[in-house]
Amino acid sequence: MIYLDNHATTKVHPEVVEAMLPFLTEHYQNPSSGYRAGKTVKKAIENARGEVAQLIGAKEEEIVFTGCGTESNNMVLKSLARIYGRKRSKVVTGEIEHSAVLKPIQAMEDVGFDVVRCGVRADGRLDLESFKEACQSAETGFASIMWANNETGVIQPIVEACEIARSAGLAFHTDAIQAVGKIEINVRESGVDFLSLSGHKFHAPKGIGALYLREGVRFEPLMRGGGQEAGRRSGTENVPYIVGLGKAASLMREALQKDAHRSIAAHRDFLEHRLVQELEGVTLNGSREHRVPTCAHISFDGCEGAGLLILLDESGVQVSTGSACMTGKQQPSHVQMAMGIPAQQARSSLRISFSGMTTREETQEAVEKIKVAVRKLRQVQGGDRVGPVVVYS
Ligand SMILES: Cc1ncc(COP(=O)(O)O)c(C=O)c1O
Repeated sequence: MIYLDNHATTKVHPEVVEAMLPFLTEHYQNPSSGYRAGKTVKKAIENARGEVAQLIGAKEEEIVFTGCGTESNNMVLKSLARIYGRKRSKVVTGEIEHSAVLKPIQAMEDVGFDVVRCGVRADGRLDLESFKEACQSAETGFASIMWANNETGVIQPIVEACEIARSAGLAFHTDAIQAVGKIEINVRESGVDFLSLSGHKFHAPKGIGALYLREGVRFEPLMRGGGQEAGRRSGTENVPYIVGLGKAASLMREALQKDAHRSIAAHRDFLEHRLVQELEGVTLNGSREHRVPTCAHISFDGCEGAGLLILLDESGVQVSTGSACMTGKQQPSHVQMAMGIPAQQARSSLRISFSGMTTREETQEAVEKIKVAVRKLRQVQGGDRVGPVVVYS
């Protein structure tokens, strides 16, 4: 089996499993307990916090552990909504955000918040002009722009957007769930106030995330109770998963320092190059320059993405037609629509996503299998007769 769906989730790294196991067996004590064994567990949490902080250039006390990326996004957006209120404030976001940002913001709009959703250019990058206009027309409020898009892998102009928002007096959050662990991130240099990340996108298990809260920012907790995480997210800590997240963060930091991500991009570029050379009607979507090393987003004329996915699955290659969170919905992707990609091209796309565990042999084999699947489907569907689609996400 060749796994090329790493934007949906990644395989847990064996060293992460190894680091977690003692906290599922012998170190089961509550980290809030006063005896020595409890303190050992507490120390493991603090070590993990340090690792996560280092990965993004933050201070330890600026990191709050959460249950997932969705929780991080909801926690911060709901806090901002409560702090700013709906009377005078504006919420500025992007059209291509993940549903874990779009949905909470939609809920705010439903109760009367003034929301502006800014579009992207054809290359999938935020239209900074309209973003600036929206921010400058706000008396107060907050902005939320993703660091990298989950479908296309396109990196957004976060430093510029953050600067625009903050100089207009708006707080700035970024959903960096598809960026952390894949590219260098430094919260100090970028100036963001809030950042969300999720462990399962970089070889920690599913169900653990973190939120960066810049020192001194106002924050209203969603979860109130025992006061864990310095009162910012109550609930007894998920110790094994926190330890796993810390280990994955340290592995990613090491990989980024060694520039190991360059080889991920090399596999991705190799696959794109071979497909473009060896098949007709192949279009690479999104900015080629500003993108994470892990993602290829490709349209195959005359093929239905959903059909390709099924054929490839049968031949042992796992890819996605888009964002895994949305698979099953009968509609083209909101991201591709925002980029102005025609509906038919959008439906004939695959998201092929890599990780540090992907090998060149697997990439080569995947190229061959994709070629066979595309040719087979074209024989059945032909030219522009793309079938009634569909599962696009
Ligand atoms: C950009 C982005 N934001 C948020 C999420 C949700 O994260 P989680 O699955 O940890 O809740 C995802 C997951 O696909 C994502 O890609």
